[in-house]
Amino acid sequence: MLAQLDTLRAEALIALGAATDETAIETVRVNYLGKKGSVTALSSGMRDVPVDQKKEAGAKLNEVREAISSAIETKQAAIQHAKDTASVAGIDVTLPGRPGNGVGALHPLTQVRDLAVRTLRRMGFTLAEGPEIETEWHCFDALNTPADHPARNEKDTFYLADGRLLRTHTSSVQIRTMETVKDLPVRIIAPGAAYRRDEIDATHLSVFNQLECLYVDKGVSLADLKGTLEVFFREIFGPQTAVRFRPHFFPFTEPSFEIDVKLEAKGKEARWIEIAGCGMVDPAVFTAVNGSRGDVLFDPEEITGFAFGMGLDRLAMILHSITDIRHLIDNDVRFLAQF
Ligand code: DAH
Repeated sequence: MLAQLDTLRAEALIALGAATDETAIETVRVNYLGKKGSVTALSSGMRDVPVDQKKEAGAKLNEVREAISSAIETKQAAIQHAKDTASVAGIDVTLPGRPGNGVGALHPLTQVRDLAVRTLRRMGFTLAEGPEIETEWHCFDALNTPADHPARNEKDTFYLADGRLLRTHTSSVQIRTMETVKDLPVRIIAPGAAYRRDEIDATHLSVFNQLECLYVDKGVSLADLKGTLEVFFREIFGPQTAVRFRPHFFPFTEPSFEIDVKLEAKGKEARWIEIAGCGMVDPAVFTAVNGSRGDVLFDPEEITGFAFGMGLDRLAMILHSITDIRHLIDNDVRFLAQF
């Protein structure tokens, strides 16, 4: 039996040496190691080997089986390597690339969003998000917006058949966040899409982008809000930028302001441009959130907060003197290549 095994090994290795493709290798495997293969046949003969020779015969059997399988693996790898080499033959990988396709760049909107997020992260804000399909409660009620508020009108808002809606602003993320946090402070930025049933023109799209910001803790003040926004807009528009707060009304903040930045255009007089809404979180918002949480983490007697929100499309347009918002979604390379 030992001699037979040596012969089988020699035969198998010769057959493998002659194999030139995967089918031939597979044939060798089946002939020697397969269910009806000759090595397998010998191993069933182990039964009849006298006891004192069993150990040696068993070891030999394993040795031969392993020698054949590892030769098969080596051969397979060699054939694969030859195939790989053949498939790139004729391709000169040292040829320089073809210029002219140009290097891609981030979309101007993405650039502005990243700059805004980066700036606020440096001030300790972290990213938050919420669903774009929202409940009326998160989008309006909890934000102290009464049922007869014009923004809730079917003419202005996309409602779903089940009563939910496409969020009209990212302010709903304020509520989503306060509902779920374990502790104070809350300090979040939430960039994201918002939807309104607007007539599409040079300054309106039915899907646009906003950035929301919320800071809630003990002792957050209007001075914090002003300081944060001044730093923020100077980072975006340049260190000399003047920022102005104009009293305004939003249901979810009290007091509320609109923010203008003073921008110089070449050869023209500087103009104040309205850029964002902001204010101190209305206590009614905290009360709504507590009701939903079932605790008083947001005790309006103990804590305060500020919030602001702005349109990112508008920010990009002002920053780059883009006169039509539709350029931002046309994906025309002649437009995009400028950024
Ligand atoms: N949600 C407002 C809008 O879409 C913008 C806004 C105003 C957000 C005041 C705020 C805020 O967080 O405090 O017009």
